[in-house]
This record gives sequence, C-alpha cells and structure tokens, in this order.
Amino acid sequence: MAVAQFNPNCTKTHLHSSQLSFLSRSLPRHRHCAFAPLHRTQHGKISCSVAPNQVQVPAVQTQEPKSKPECYGVFCLTYDLRAEEETRSWKKLINIAVSGAAGMIANHLLFKLASGEVFGPDQPIALKLLGSERSIQALEGVAMELEDSLFPLLREVSIGIDPYEVFQDAEWALLIGAKPRGPGMERADLLDINGQIYAQQGRALNAVASRNVKVIVVGNPCNTNALICLKNAPNIPARNFHALTRLDENRAKCQLALKAGVFYDKVSNVTIWGNHSTTQVPDFVNAKIDGLPVKEVVKDHKWLEEEFTEKVQKRGGALIQKWGRSSAASTSVSIVDAIRSLITPTPKGDWFSTGVYSTGNPYGIAEGIVFSMPCRSKGDGDYELVKDVIIDDYLRQRIAKTEAELLAEKRCVAHLTGEGIAVCDLPGDTMLPGEM
Ligand code: LMR
Repeated sequence: MAVAQFNPNCTKTHLHSSQLSFLSRSLPRHRHCAFAPLHRTQHGKISCSVAPNQVQVPAVQTQEPKSKPECYGVFCLTYDLRAEEETRSWKKLINIAVSGAAGMIANHLLFKLASGEVFGPDQPIALKLLGSERSIQALEGVAMELEDSLFPLLREVSIGIDPYEVFQDAEWALLIGAKPRGPGMERADLLDINGQIYAQQGRALNAVASRNVKVIVVGNPCNTNALICLKNAPNIPARNFHALTRLDENRAKCQLALKAGVFYDKVSNVTIWGNHSTTQVPDFVNAKIDGLPVKEVVKDHKWLEEEFTEKVQKRGGALIQKWGRSSAASTSVSIVDAIRSLITPTPKGDWFSTGVYSTGNPYGIAEGIVFSMPCRSKGDGDYELVKDVIIDDYLRQRIAKTEAELLAEKRCVAHLTGEGIAVCDLPGDTMLPGEM
C-alpha cells in the first residue's frame, strides 16, 4: 500500500494512500501542496515530502475520508500546477472511469485518453480504472505503463475492483468489461451474467458518479447492458447512456468506400439502426458518398441489400476468425470517435450513430429499449435525434427485426430492470457480431 510521509511543516500525519487520494481531490483543483522529489522505498512504498515554503493551504482534513480507490504510484503525488507555465490555460480536470481496464480494448483506449487525443491538449484527466479480483495484477501493470508514459495531461490514476469506489465523481464512464460467451453458454445466460454486472455498475453510477455522467457501454450485448445500466441508475438521465455502435458505422463506411472506389472520408450520413448484433441495419438508403445518395453512386442495389449489409453485420465474427479474439484496436478507435462526436459539433448536414434510449423517438420504434439511431450533437456532450431521414419499406422491415430482437432481450432481463419476471423467448438467430 502506498504511504506518503509529509514534511511536518505541512502535516504531521502518515497517510494511507486513499487518504492522500482524498486530500488531493478535496483541495481546490490545480492543487496547492507542492512536493519535493519522490523516493520509492525498498518495499515499494512511496514517500514524499512537502517543501515548507510552498504550502498554500492547510492540508489536513479532520473528517473521515470517504472510501476511495487506490491512487497509483506516481499519481499519488500532488504538485503546484500554478508553477507550471503550460498548465495555465488548462481546463478543469475531468474524471474518466473505465471498466474492463485490464483488457485489450482498454489497453488501446487508455493511452489515447491520456495522450490528449480524445479530450484535447488542454484537458487534464483523471483515470479511474475498474478491474476484477482476477485482473488486479494486470491492472497494476496497466497503471505502471501509464506512469512510464509521462503523459503531461494525465494527472491522476486510481485502480480498484469496487465500482462504488472507482466510479466516484466520474464524468465519463466507459464500460468495457463483460464476460465473453463461453462454449455451450446460452445467450440467455450471457444476458444474465453480463446483465448482473451492468445492474451493479448502474447502481454504483447512480450512487457516486456525477449526476451528468456520460456512459458508453461497450461490453456485449451492449444495447441491453446499457438498458440494464440506465434502469439501475434512475438519478442519471436515461439519455446519458449510450451503447457503442460506432464501430459498426465505421465498418459500414469502409465497405461503401471500397465498393465506390473512394477514400472513406467521402462517406457520410451512415446510420446503424438497432442492435449491435447480426440483426443491425447499416443504412445505405440515407448514406452519402461525396454528397450524393449511395444508391446513385453504387448502382448494384442487390449488393447493398445483401452483401454489404451482411458484411457489416458479421464483420466482428470475420475478425475473430482472423485474430482468434474480438476486435480491440478498432473498437477503441470507435470509442474515441463516439466520445468526440459528443464533445465536438457534428459537421453540418452529417450525423453519427449511437445506441440511445428509444423513448420519444420520431421513427415509431418501440419505446424503452436502447436502439442505435442517427444523432447530432452541438458538442456539449448531449445529442438530438435526426428527424429528416427516409425510412423506406426495406429499412422498415429490417428495423422491425432488430427491434423485435431488442424487445426479446429486454423481456429476458426484466428481473434486472425492475420490470418483473424474465421471459426468455429470444429469436433463434440472435447473435453478437462475433458469434458465427
Ligand atoms: C465486434 O463487433 O467486433 C464485437 O462486438 C464482436 C464480439 O462479439 O465480441
């Protein structure tokens, strides 16, 4: 356990690292205690001392600290940020919680977050990493690599296995952790096992996260996990919960670009409708290539309806066959895209796909499920649904299938959403993109 030893002129207390973590958070942001260089002791403990003439505020809090996750290594130190010229124009630090933090997707994502690539070069961040008992060693390994990367914007890292501790004050929660479907496991079992995890994480967010936390659920089955999470977090607006379908949108854009022989930045207005599963509907009806409707550029409509659609629906599985595991790097890129779509204004006339709570949608899709739809954002973290889209008979039929699947998944997890007794009547062909 990390211990900080303060110079007597600042405080006479030997602090448990969680107390230190508490102190660092309870001081005004851009902290006031400055520390002399750190020494690691033989036992892996950390000791640091305060230069007396730099102390600005009393550092001792007399009340019992709230339970906090463990701050990690060098991130347990605090510095006088006002002395650092480059920090003067920084924004207020934001807290980002990541579950499944010792996994492959997180391993790509965390370093993007810490580098400033996601939230910008003037946005300091705190990373709150949630793992499991089984993964705690690996999580320490992740934290060590973050230490060694010397990211200027990464001001705090804490690790833990209790979501009630790790999600404290989280302003973003990127929920990646989920159990994969094992051999012989029924889909209903998968829904239940992961649903239990997401119910607990929803309750934890409800109890300790920022009231305006934005939640992106990545762990599969992500739409229904997001639904369970939001139902267990009644004090957080339902519209703040997202299921990640941006990877599917990116996959669809790539396939359309390939077919049209253009670079993929020419493809816009791609919607993924519905579930992140093999029933998802990649919408070529409203999509554009170089500003023109896709159907005017790609004349092979049979290809669009059949090959294109299936390729996108099953891309996850095709990748698993190559890699022997689920996509990780491209998933992390799509999480970055999903976040950036919410914090930057959507380019005029375009939109992005994300799975959101369907209640109040203008498309006639059933209420009370998490359904991927076209959205636009002003860049304030919020979004609005795009109204001016065409839903023709082809789309309507396909959307009905993915909607029916999500309604069946919802019935199957009723015990986790507070909606009564679960009845699992899942369609036989219900599959994640990776299950083929
Ligand atoms: C993907 O789309 O790549 C993943 O969701 C696949 C999976 O089932 O893990």
